[in-house]
Amino acid sequence: MRVLSGIQPTADSFHLGNYLGALRQWVRLQETHETFYCVVDLHAITVEQDPKVLRERTRRSAAQLLAIGVDPAHSALFVQSHVPEHAQLSWVLECQTGFGEAGRMTQFKDKASKQGTDRASVGLFTYPVLQAADILLYQANAVPVGEDQRQHLELSRNLAQRFNNRFGATFTVPEPHIVKDTAKIYDLQDPSAKMSKSASAAGGIVELLEDPKRSAKKIRSAVTDAGREVIYDPEGKPGVANLLTIYSALTERGIAELEAAYEGKGYGDLKKDLGEVLVDWVTPFQERVRSYLDDRAELDKVLAAGAERAREVASRTLAKVYRRVGFLPPG
Ligand code: TYM
Repeated sequence: MRVLSGIQPTADSFHLGNYLGALRQWVRLQETHETFYCVVDLHAITVEQDPKVLRERTRRSAAQLLAIGVDPAHSALFVQSHVPEHAQLSWVLECQTGFGEAGRMTQFKDKASKQGTDRASVGLFTYPVLQAADILLYQANAVPVGEDQRQHLELSRNLAQRFNNRFGATFTVPEPHIVKDTAKIYDLQDPSAKMSKSASAAGGIVELLEDPKRSAKKIRSAVTDAGREVIYDPEGKPGVANLLTIYSALTERGIAELEAAYEGKGYGDLKKDLGEVLVDWVTPFQERVRSYLDDRAELDKVLAAGAERAREVASRTLAKVYRRVGFLPPG
């Protein structure tokens, strides 16, 4: 069984939502599946970027993935642009995608409405098709992501089925692997919005590479709700529920156990303790990231080996696709 997933190198640091919603599952699935994980730099240029910053963030992303526990002995860890088949398959799939279908993608609509349709690039429009190419090239059965990627995954499934119907069985139809409890981590300052790099208030997002003391402070100043009882009630107490979700995921203690532990205590105790839990997790993580970044040659070697492994699979799928659509094989 194969797994593929990707993450964009569009910020200096991953955030807690990325980790709990997706990256933790990347690490877990290595035990049982053949895993392909990529830093999606082609996707990152769908919005304006600085070339030097993009290079730096791509390395930092790879270092963070290693520090989280992506193990190059188990997984092919690679940079998307090192495997040209992604862009090549994307073109073929674009020709199977309806214009209206692409226009219905909510992430595109959100981003394009923020930038204005004249400034939004065509790449932003075709972004989800490139994502489908990422997945289908590896014949992935499962794709670990957070809830916000569900619609893109649905498009990948539709494109796989459509291509198979039109040209004969070619692609595995992938299933999203979304773990319900942590599928959507919310902004600490606005628990009705997802935690996101484009959050309006910096206090709402915990960056894995920021000073851990700052993260603890953000947790302590998280917006909580009326009342003082620590109970899990996402409707009535979304702020507290979000903190309990994070706490439970980081400690592997069940929500009911945490509710019992905080009976008779208040929100302040919960936040203080969660801040400490976070510092204890993030401090050694940051040390690992630093050591991976210090040995740049080794990091680049890991990525080169990952790309080589990825290309073996990707080139086989692409050759099949090219044959199926009727391209004349080169002499
Ligand atoms: P990206 O880079 O925005 O986010 C990486 C992963 O983090 C998850 N995530 C969250 N999960 C829970 N709560 C949150 N607040 C939260 N914020 C982000 C995302 O769901 C994602 O799994 N389009 C993708 C990248 C991509 C991809 C792929 C993913 C490109 N090709 C192929 C899977 C397969 C994206 O922008 O993720």
